[in-house]
Amino acid sequence: MKGDLGNYRKSYEKQALLETNISDNPMEVFQKWFYEVDSNFNEGETNAMTISTVGLDGFPKSRVVLLKKYTHEGFIFYTNYESEKAKAILANPNVCLSFFWPKAERQVIIKGVAEKISSNMSDGYFESRPRGSQLGALVSHQSEVVESREVLEHELQQLEIKFEGKEIKRPEHWGGFMVKPISIEFWQGRPNRLHDRIRFSLNETYDWIMERLSP
Ligand SMILES: Cc1cc2nc3c(=O)[nH]c(=O)nc-3n(C[C@H](O)[C@H](O)[C@H](O)COP(=O)(O)O)c2cc1C
Repeated sequence: MKGDLGNYRKSYEKQALLETNISDNPMEVFQKWFYEVDSNFNEGETNAMTISTVGLDGFPKSRVVLLKKYTHEGFIFYTNYESEKAKAILANPNVCLSFFWPKAERQVIIKGVAEKISSNMSDGYFESRPRGSQLGALVSHQSEVVESREVLEHELQQLEIKFEGKEIKRPEHWGGFMVKPISIEFWQGRPNRLHDRIRFSLNETYDWIMERLSP
């Protein structure tokens, strides 16, 4: 019956995750998974990820941001450096990122430490953004209370006039963070709830240790 969530059930049958079939470097596994999901499953926004921070009020908070780059070092997203999440990160840089790709029946959970990227790198990305997004970054005092939508739209109009025909520079309060992972867990849905979970953790000598977790 529609609405009886107890009866919502899905059997996960598409793929398997076996130690023998994957790289011993989790960033390579991530790259492979991301590429497969992006190419073969129509997830909409493959790069949408949830980032959880521990706030200044002591509560965890999760919200979606877009992954804009990943390298062997870590995962980069962009935001307002005065937002609630940025204030949380600057006080406690330990964060959790997670991806859920339902069509591929996959989840990735990353624990890591976030740090601001260089201003050069943020400049480079800001310059590549469409003009509307650049102006939006100037207008938004992200996470602050705003009186009304009209206030925001009025401010946008004023800035459109001010910057007409001019280059828009990245505001200091906007830029990227890189999350450097300390553990990455890959979850692949399997039949009978016997899902595959492989976790990589960095040990004291900064080598990745691979372990299978019980579902
Ligand atoms: C699909 C999607 C993508 C988003 N991408 C970003 C992003 O890349 N950066 C960002 O700051 N906020 C992004 N947001 C908005 C955040 O979820 C959030 O509302 C905002 O960053 C303020 O969060 P905070 O007040 O906890 O700091 C996105 C939201 C959605 C639903």
